[in-house]
Amino acid sequence: MSAGLDDVVAAHTVLSEVDGAAGRLVMRGHSLAELVGRAGFEEMAALMLDGLLPGLPSERSLPAVLGRSRVALFDIVEHVPVSAGLGPFEALRAWTAQIPDGEEGETALRLLAAPAVFTPAAVRKARGLAAVAPDPALPQAADTLRMLRGEAPSQAEAAALDAYLVTVADHGLNASTFAARVVASTRPGLVSAVLAGLGALKGPLHGGAPGPVIEMLDGIGDPADARAWLEAALDRGDRLMGFGHRIYRVRDPRADALKQAIARLGADAGRLALAEAVEQAALAILRERKPRRPLETNVEFYTALLLEALGFPPDAFTCVFALGRTIGWLAHAREQIETGRLIRPQSVYVGPQPRQAA
Ligand code: ACO
Repeated sequence: MSAGLDDVVAAHTVLSEVDGAAGRLVMRGHSLAELVGRAGFEEMAALMLDGLLPGLPSERSLPAVLGRSRVALFDIVEHVPVSAGLGPFEALRAWTAQIPDGEEGETALRLLAAPAVFTPAAVRKARGLAAVAPDPALPQAADTLRMLRGEAPSQAEAAALDAYLVTVADHGLNASTFAARVVASTRPGLVSAVLAGLGALKGPLHGGAPGPVIEMLDGIGDPADARAWLEAALDRGDRLMGFGHRIYRVRDPRADALKQAIARLGADAGRLALAEAVEQAALAILRERKPRRPLETNVEFYTALLLEALGFPPDAFTCVFALGRTIGWLAHAREQIETGRLIRPQSVYVGPQPRQAA
């Protein structure tokens, strides 16, 4: 029995390889460094879903088709109210559940476009602003930022969001991808598989970490206060958000890819200096406290900095993660369906047995 399924291999995949000892990520035969800065959201979706989704349009026509999907989804934003007080993630989940399970290629396109439309709309509605309609002529990353702000982003900003979305597109059998595969294996359709992925992503031990990274940076405020703040958090039994990983025993390569994207964007130098000071203090304290367990920076630490610099509020960070990771969820869901095998492990009953009748 392995409570966390550590070291259990549950799938053969052509999608991604996470080498936790070397700190290396490969997606469909390409290293992370080869992809970031060269591929955008659309190219990444075409690469990952290639051969797995017969109804998907070619890479060349994908931007226009995705644009039309965004326009179609805006109808949900306009006609399906979400309860007041729901945060962006809950609104994304509720609106995504409105997508019907139709033909797989068409459904996948809607799901790929969903966080791009629903996240900015939810953020704006929470601020009392009207949602901005999609522009189907724009690439998805640029349009997401335009819908968030109501004005076109710079090329550098759109490129930074693309770099992020490519970086997080897939990552082996992480918790949300495994959840998506489990659900896909019962053949309920792709919407349910993506909703399962969304549900698992929300937690702070997975995709919910970057919002709390901002709380940590704001709580520390001054680099000189980092050590005391972090020591106090660990004394309370808290985990330091943005550090540690189930697979990586060295630095998460995605952290550096995102740090470079932040540098290219020319984000607030003071904020970056604070983050670097907090990172160094956290790594030093974790080494002192857990000398036998390497705990390094993970993707979520610099995710927080990058998405903050792009103008997303912390409670929407996980929605943006979902935008990138939907590519991986869909590819894994299709790969699992093709195996034809229901995922159904076993448990060992350790409760009481019924009393024998006298
Ligand atoms: N801060 C403090 N202590 C930590 C941290 C952390 N960030 N991460 C692990 N530890 C400690 C554990 O408490 C445990 O201590 P113990 O042996 O005294 O009980 C020890 O290190 C070993 O931890 P593991 O059980 O090996 O960690 P696990 O593989 O279960 O957890 C996880 C991985 C969930 C990412 C963890 O490191 C964590 O909670 N990190 C903070 C949240 C975070 O950054 N999540 C995003 C992960 S990246 C992603 O999902 C996209």
